[in-house]
Amino acid sequence: MAEALRNATEPMPYERIAVKRIAGAMGAEIEGADLAKLDDATFAEIHRAFLEHQAIFFRGQDITPDQYLAFAKRWGGIHFYPYMKGLDSHPEIFELVKTEDATPVFGNRWHSDQMYTPIPAKATMLYAKELPAAGGDTMFANLYLAYDALSDGMKRMLAGLETYNDGENKQRYGGKSRAEWYGAAGMGGKLHAVQDNPVVAEHPLIRMHPETGRKALFIGDQSRRFAGMTDEESKPLIAFLMAHATRPEFTCRFRWQAPGALALWDNRCCMHYAVADYAGKRRVMHRITVKGDEAPF
Ligand code: SIN
Repeated sequence: MAEALRNATEPMPYERIAVKRIAGAMGAEIEGADLAKLDDATFAEIHRAFLEHQAIFFRGQDITPDQYLAFAKRWGGIHFYPYMKGLDSHPEIFELVKTEDATPVFGNRWHSDQMYTPIPAKATMLYAKELPAAGGDTMFANLYLAYDALSDGMKRMLAGLETYNDGENKQRYGGKSRAEWYGAAGMGGKLHAVQDNPVVAEHPLIRMHPETGRKALFIGDQSRRFAGMTDEESKPLIAFLMAHATRPEFTCRFRWQAPGALALWDNRCCMHYAVADYAGKRRVMHRITVKGDEAPF
């Protein structure tokens, strides 16, 4: 009865977890979930919160690599990072280390993970192991809102475009190869050859989210040009769309605060940005990326 009376636009209440929004645009902290022992009903609510808020955050989690992996596998298969190897004990978990003397910060660009692969990662989770006392936050941008806010004329113009996404584009790394860049970032030891994993891919600029049915502006800093156009022709529109998509009104910012925090975001409808404001400090995160949906989306 209560169900029948509920206004169609009013979200279903959560019964097993508390969901607290952290910004107007997107992002919510989840309370009341122990990811080490998650029952199916609690997982179902977490999944719903993930779709409603695009990025969700947990604090105080104490999970082993096996428990972390088991949580990740509830979302789908593992999307292996093509450029670097994972932990020896758990190759699915990629340890992201920024040492005290490393200069570049991994992920310090607005992007959606592995857009340069034919089937980009659906979701990413990041588990904080070591954090600087201040700084090292992660920001997120809601690509549904970015799409919705475009004019009808712009939406019509963008409708048929595809982006060409290039994992090897040296312009993104100040002219350095990935190997040189990762070396400077202190992660050269983890590099491995991409082997036969493709690192360039074309995707629709406007993608339909397979679970929510909403349209998102699927762009990131790996988007080098539009398919069938030159870099020069594409650059002004890509620059506009990136600036538009990352307007403060479409973003949220997660302060990790303490090891044990875990972020989980939906690469199909948001970009993220690792804030590089902790020079001289160390930060260690464990990342797992979840396999995506078959293109075309
Ligand atoms: C990433 O881009 O996957 C890393 C984000 C972060 O370290 O905050």
